[in-house]
Amino acid sequence: MEQIETLIKRIDNDLKDVLSEERYKHCIGVMNKAEELAEKYNVDINKARLVGLAHDIAKEMTHDDKLKYVKENEIQIDDIEKINVGLLHAKIGADICKKRYGFTKEMQDAITYHTTGNKNMDDLAKILIVADKTEDGRTWEDSQKVREIADRSLDEAVIYIIDVSIKNTIDKNKLIHTDSIDTRNKLLLNNM
Ligand SMILES: [Fe+2]
Ligand SMILES: [Fe+2]
Repeated sequence: MEQIETLIKRIDNDLKDVLSEERYKHCIGVMNKAEELAEKYNVDINKARLVGLAHDIAKEMTHDDKLKYVKENEIQIDDIEKINVGLLHAKIGADICKKRYGFTKEMQDAITYHTTGNKNMDDLAKILIVADKTEDGRTWEDSQKVREIADRSLDEAVIYIIDVSIKNTIDKNKLIHTDSIDTRNKLLLNNM
């Protein structure tokens, strides 16, 4: 990968072109929070900053553009993603970051897993999930709770986030992605 600060500047410029002001600020917030968590949990700080900054790069693509992108770039999508197309911003974002910025496989995976979780997540991926929900701009009522939990355990913070997300998904009568359930079970088993 090219020099870190040059790369950050390039991603930052690209984000300004494709994201609303509010979402752009969210991405800066996630970058800063991911850096903080990476320091705490001994994860590569530059990787954490980069995935934090770029994770939502595909978030504001239209529904049709997302479907067109996965088709043209031969990205496999599952039955739940076919119905809940919004989830695809994770896989598309990872693909963009690989092709445009040379992100490593580990960094691509972190971005791919940031919406649903995945049972094979490493600490970088867990940090991205937690930073996404706890960046300074988050006024989500559970954000403070997650910040407190993340102070003592990354796994517990991820479990809490998934629990809230599954409960919300049930309340909205939407499909629960099986990766979220697999991730929750794996983390619970690991921490028993
Ligand atoms: Fe996202
Ligand atoms: Fe996000």
